[in-house]
Amino acid sequence: MSHIRARGAGGPPLRGRVALPGDKSISHRAILLNMLAGGAARVTNFLPAGDCRASLRVAGALGAEVEVLSPTELRVHGRGMVLPEPDDVLDCGRSGTTMRLLAGILAGQPFAAVLSGDAQLRRRPMARVAEPLRLMGATVLGRDGGRLPPLTVQGGALRGIEYHLPVASAQVKSALLLAGLYAEGPTTLHVPGPARDHTERMLRAMGAEVATRAGDGGHTLHAGPAAALAPLDLAVPGDFSSAAFLLVAATLVPGSEVVLEGVGINPTRTGLLDVLRAMGAEIEVLDEGSAGGEPVADLAVRSAGLRGVEVGGDLVVRAIDELPILAVAATQARGETLVRDAAELRVKETDRVATTVAELRCLGAAIEARPDGFLVQGPTRLRGAPVDSHGDHRLAMALVVAGLVAEGETVVHDCGCIPDSFPGFEALLAGLGGRIAP
Ligand code: S3P
Repeated sequence: MSHIRARGAGGPPLRGRVALPGDKSISHRAILLNMLAGGAARVTNFLPAGDCRASLRVAGALGAEVEVLSPTELRVHGRGMVLPEPDDVLDCGRSGTTMRLLAGILAGQPFAAVLSGDAQLRRRPMARVAEPLRLMGATVLGRDGGRLPPLTVQGGALRGIEYHLPVASAQVKSALLLAGLYAEGPTTLHVPGPARDHTERMLRAMGAEVATRAGDGGHTLHAGPAAALAPLDLAVPGDFSSAAFLLVAATLVPGSEVVLEGVGINPTRTGLLDVLRAMGAEIEVLDEGSAGGEPVADLAVRSAGLRGVEVGGDLVVRAIDELPILAVAATQARGETLVRDAAELRVKETDRVATTVAELRCLGAAIEARPDGFLVQGPTRLRGAPVDSHGDHRLAMALVVAGLVAEGETVVHDCGCIPDSFPGFEALLAGLGGRIAP
């Protein structure tokens, strides 16, 4: 298993301008939605990460031809709404997004298909998609009474439903919107928070009917069935979730000044930006524009002292993947940082409350787990030590950033997972001046 060594405190500042790899959530959708289109679409700045390769693989197994023009440039030849029956299990690797969105698509197909993946994915909860898809008329079977993968999805004649999602999950919302394309009658979803809205944006641009209304305590989506989708050419914005590691690293390493170019700033994704600014971070949003139907900008960050904050509610939904790196920032902030309402963190690639707390404690952080988040007292002088990613890409990168501010050497074990979302992370960080080595 590969590891990364980071040398901290007293190291050089981070300096430079970098463009970030494409957004993971949008890259998945660029493939899975264009697979259903009636024609070819060109995708640029596609993220060539392990998770997105899983979507590429299953799209191929479901009959879509994908021309790989370069690692980041694809032409997806859609098969139309009705796909051919695959001749084997669909391997989703470690990608929850692939499995859950695909379950929605398969619910509308005239065959049964099996979705499986790596051990990490086979531990993740699937009842959240299986139950509503059953209400729509699909048969969904799985291990543990239908709660865990492998999943078998037998498509059928679907009916639109009105459904209250128990969690503000974009993957569940997307699965149900995709199944709704095949349903008789409209699908109405009540989502208890601002979960990322990339699927809605793309479906609308492809000609589907999706209306969103924000109200007290959540969002209501109304979606109609669709007989066809138009192919959608897409320039994928840089991934804010990847930018997050560099925003925190540049904030914490004294003297740093970094510009991150072409980053997606969809408001359903930028909760960490708001949190870091509330903590005192100096981050400017420059040159706002749009790419692929999404707002983008350059983010200019310079190092700054931080103070603790309380984070909960919608902000947690808008920062859900960034909470491990927020924990690292909080160890260097003056006072207490409390993250609450984040029980969802426990069912990500790992139980990110438990793994983040355990590993940051190895570095000397004053952090304790809560059932729905964590509490950090800062600032603490972190001390380099061996730590482990538990095979979780976001935790691995958060620990490398912690290593840049800890005294002495931090060895982050099991870093082979980093390319699940951020291929080239080490080279990019080292290019900015980060003292890391294999
Ligand atoms: C994602 C949605 C989020 C996020 C995940 C990607 C997506 O998960 O944590 O990394 O692309 O739809 P949930 O839908 O479970 O909140």
